[in-house]
Amino acid sequence: MEQKIAEIKERIEKEVAATKTSKILFELKVKYILGKTGEIPALMKELGKAPKEDRPKLGKVINELKEWATEAFANKESEISALERQARYEAEKIDITMPAKRGGEGSLHPVSVVKGQLIDIFAGMGFKVSETREIEDDFYNFTALNTPKEHPARDKQDTFYINDDLMLRTHTSPGQIHTLKTVEPPFKVLIPGRVYRADDDATHSPMFHQMEGLVIDKHITMCDLQGMLDVLVKKMFSEGAKTRFRPSFFPFTEPSVEVDVSCFECGGKGCKLCKGTGWIEILGGGIVNRKVIENCGLDPDKYTGFAFGLGLDRIAMLKYGINNIHILYEGDLRALKQFKE
Ligand code: PHE
Repeated sequence: MEQKIAEIKERIEKEVAATKTSKILFELKVKYILGKTGEIPALMKELGKAPKEDRPKLGKVINELKEWATEAFANKESEISALERQARYEAEKIDITMPAKRGGEGSLHPVSVVKGQLIDIFAGMGFKVSETREIEDDFYNFTALNTPKEHPARDKQDTFYINDDLMLRTHTSPGQIHTLKTVEPPFKVLIPGRVYRADDDATHSPMFHQMEGLVIDKHITMCDLQGMLDVLVKKMFSEGAKTRFRPSFFPFTEPSVEVDVSCFECGGKGCKLCKGTGWIEILGGGIVNRKVIENCGLDPDKYTGFAFGLGLDRIAMLKYGINNIHILYEGDLRALKQFKE
């Protein structure tokens, strides 16, 4: 038996030395020391068959072999794992001096482009930008804006109600109320943002974007509005662009106007874009209704102002020749990539 032990030791020594991977090493471990079937545990079993007087000595030798083998495997294990780790590092090595692959260049969304241009133009005239909340209550979205209970804008078909009092804002005009209630006049403010209406066809999306403008000071007239909008259309559309005011109605402005810009496609002669009229409607506005100023706790005899609201999506569509508003919101990069600033 002693001879057998010596022979096993020799084999382990040789085989372990020749091993190069942790997988084979583990197989050897199974073969020699693990479980009940390994050769060393099997020796322990055989011990019972040896002559009684030899057993203590043999047992000691087997235990020594086991200890020696356990250590030999452990040493080899750490040697191999160090090598394997090194090999993995080599394989994963990257050359950080190689030139980087350029990612595709992104571009701003057409609505963001238009919003940015408008903000730039109005900032040049002293406007500040303010964003107000998208979930409004009845007071801000309607009542304070002098929109009586029976007004069609309150129709449940247009407005997304959350409960009896709360709704998704149907326009950015509630931003006028927030500003009037918190900012000391005189001021010029722009309020861009998302608005929501239950309306969905080629030119309407249930979510779209508006930009509100509000100027409050003393002695503001419609001429101030027209002067400012003239600057706007020249910068936004073309040097030769003109504006035209048509009478209209909004509960929160009095008088109210709808503003057209001379067609930037045909210059006013009449074409497909302007439907032969030479004019394109771009916004609604007017002189802030006295009641609105009063509703916000200010004196309408002291302060006057103008307000306007324009649709950013509509302007983006006009500028880029997009005929379906949903192209803006389907997230198809092949479409959106074409509308670079
Ligand atoms: N809020 C109006 C709309 O959504 C636009 C508007 C704003 C009109 C400000 C007048 C003054 O149609």
